[in-house]
Amino acid sequence: MIPKAIEWLEDRLRILDQTKLPQEQSFIDLTDYHDVVLAIEEMRVRGAPAIGVAAAYGIALGAQGIKSESKAEFFSQLDQILQAFSTSRPTAVNLFRAINRMKKIAAMSGSIPEIKEALVNEARRIHHEEIQATSHLSQLGAALIKDGFTILTHCNAGPLATAGYGTALGVIKAAKEQGRRVSVMATETRPLLQGARLTTWELKQENIPVTLITDSMAGYFMHRKKIDCVIVGADRIAANGDVANKIGTYTLAVLAKENHIPLYVAAPTTTIDFSLLSGNEVPIEERDSQEVTHIQRMPIAPEGVKAANPAFDVTPHNYVTTIITERGIIKEPYEKELAKIARR
Ligand code: MRU
Repeated sequence: MIPKAIEWLEDRLRILDQTKLPQEQSFIDLTDYHDVVLAIEEMRVRGAPAIGVAAAYGIALGAQGIKSESKAEFFSQLDQILQAFSTSRPTAVNLFRAINRMKKIAAMSGSIPEIKEALVNEARRIHHEEIQATSHLSQLGAALIKDGFTILTHCNAGPLATAGYGTALGVIKAAKEQGRRVSVMATETRPLLQGARLTTWELKQENIPVTLITDSMAGYFMHRKKIDCVIVGADRIAANGDVANKIGTYTLAVLAKENHIPLYVAAPTTTIDFSLLSGNEVPIEERDSQEVTHIQRMPIAPEGVKAANPAFDVTPHNYVTTIITERGIIKEPYEKELAKIARR
């Protein structure tokens, strides 16, 4: 069984350290919200929905630690906590959605002890909703997977990334549970190898056959008709259906279109950002270049060489065959269809 990625233990937050997987299953107990911010920045907890859930619990934890009995002082310290989380990782919109919900619930509640309790309850609610949404969208999306399919996936969009059922991997798991034979090709996902380290680990535990490939092998297998569909998750979906996801997704989308292979994006509606007209407006996280010049801290490039490290890219909506959400499976015209599911 896959251990819980995130667990709230009343006075602390327990996370499975994803940087240590698959070699080591090690848990970290966080009692200070600064450490939760750091765990998100260092990607000990990662994946858009999981980042939102971890931040919500982290904010509740931070609020518990505020000692002041003055409400003005309490809100001023709470603002600092919210601010710290808002700069942790910029691309996944689930983070900002969670921060806004926590801010709103604090403003609506009464005394300081009541606010603290309301914040814990709201974090629990956010977590529960992600579990429900990812489980439901997976059941819906499974209908797209036919018996015998080989599915290409990128990065990691399973239980670890969602603190729930999974999105892209959730759809694959649900197809298997519904009795279809499926197999997966997982890209290693440089630079941080979420595919090699996490996706293959999760799939092995689900007894789903998986073949690990390097990112650059995807076109070879598509051209040889070894892939039936591509499924990925998303970090932010703009109102027009453009999808920000792990760097390399755009490359896979172009290759898929060229080879007439459908590209499915699986994401809860918490990943849709209706305030952005297109993917051009998505803030793309640029991470430390050492993640490129090194693999697992081992240098692989000449010392001092310049390296770029955008963590995400944007796939224009015309490359996306279908977006799978818990409120339904939608196709072009995305602007209209996404607006419709927002009203549902
Ligand atoms: O940088 P990461 O590992 O947080 O990136 C994760 C992804 O890009 C996932 O595909 C995305 O968050 C969807 S997870 C359900």
